[in-house]
Amino acid sequence: MGLQTSGIVIENRRIKPLYFLLEIHCPPIAAKIRPGQFVMLEVSDNYHPFLRRPFSVYRSFPNHYSEKKKRGHLFILYKKVGKGTQKMTKFEEGQRVDMIGPLGNGFTLPPFPSSTNIILVGGGVGIVSLYPLAEELATGKIFVFIGGKTRNDILCSADFKKLDSNIFIATEDGSLGFKGTVTDLFLSQKKKFKRNESHHLFACGPVGMLKELKRTIRFEQFICQASLESRMGCGFGACWGCVVKTSDPRTPYQRVCKEGPVFNLKDIVWE
Ligand SMILES: Cc1cc2nc3c(=O)[nH]c(=O)nc-3n(C[C@H](O)[C@H](O)[C@H](O)COP(=O)(O)OP(=O)(O)OC[C@H]3O[C@@H](n4cnc5c(N)ncnc54)[C@H](O)[C@@H]3O)c2cc1C
Ligand code: FES
Repeated sequence: MGLQTSGIVIENRRIKPLYFLLEIHCPPIAAKIRPGQFVMLEVSDNYHPFLRRPFSVYRSFPNHYSEKKKRGHLFILYKKVGKGTQKMTKFEEGQRVDMIGPLGNGFTLPPFPSSTNIILVGGGVGIVSLYPLAEELATGKIFVFIGGKTRNDILCSADFKKLDSNIFIATEDGSLGFKGTVTDLFLSQKKKFKRNESHHLFACGPVGMLKELKRTIRFEQFICQASLESRMGCGFGACWGCVVKTSDPRTPYQRVCKEGPVFNLKDIVWE
């Protein structure tokens, strides 16, 4: 289980109509968290809602980071969707917030330097968990596919640009980039990736997006790790409220918070 600790809110600002960037000073978690891991955040001090909420860490700066004022800070990029995230929008500078982390297994990084292409496919807030991975890989061969319903749901593209990645954007209403889903966009560009080679693909997004990816890609060509967004009770393996079915006959049900959230996409079974 991760560490139960607290952090101090440095800033909590709206970056798009439904999206907020929360900066917290929390050195113990900022020092340890790896790409794909998450934290459980207490969103209210009056037990409404009672359960903590899971969030990926968008950026984190350990204590030895060169820029002194960022040391020990971590960022959560969140979408206001319900009562917990609504409460988070009221977090104020200087407020103490309780959290548990780092949790989950995180992404397995490909051998470095990687001779194959790295492909990231993120739908909605799913792209948040892929950014630290891109930062850590820092290779010139990263292809990033970012999708959202409208242009207001396209996140992190400016930060990916700074990493010199090749960026492709899709919106379902066509207000920015390709008109359609991010999976459609990725499939339209698939010929960029040689069929007789294997490429590392990392995905995070809604279940529909991941199902579609699973249905359409050849796993001999794309080694695909997917981070699942399940509803969670405890976040550290105790309640079994987050299980997902897998094709592993020894452990057909696995906990997204403990054995995941990152799984090999080909092992996930959706009924
Ligand atoms: C490992 C992990 C990492 C995550 N990282 C981020 C992140 O970086 N940024 C971010 O904005 N969100 C992230 N989420 C999703 C986030 O946890 C939920 O949006 C949040 O818990 C909703 O809380 P709420 O009280 O506002 O919504 P509720 O009032 O509980 O629910 C409102 C609506 O959102 C849906 N919902 C709630 N939780 C989830 C969930 N986990 N997955 C899918 N749908 C859900 C409900 O079905 C309902 O329709 C992550 C989830 C997981 C499991
Ligand atoms: S949320 Fe409790 S076991 Fe996963």
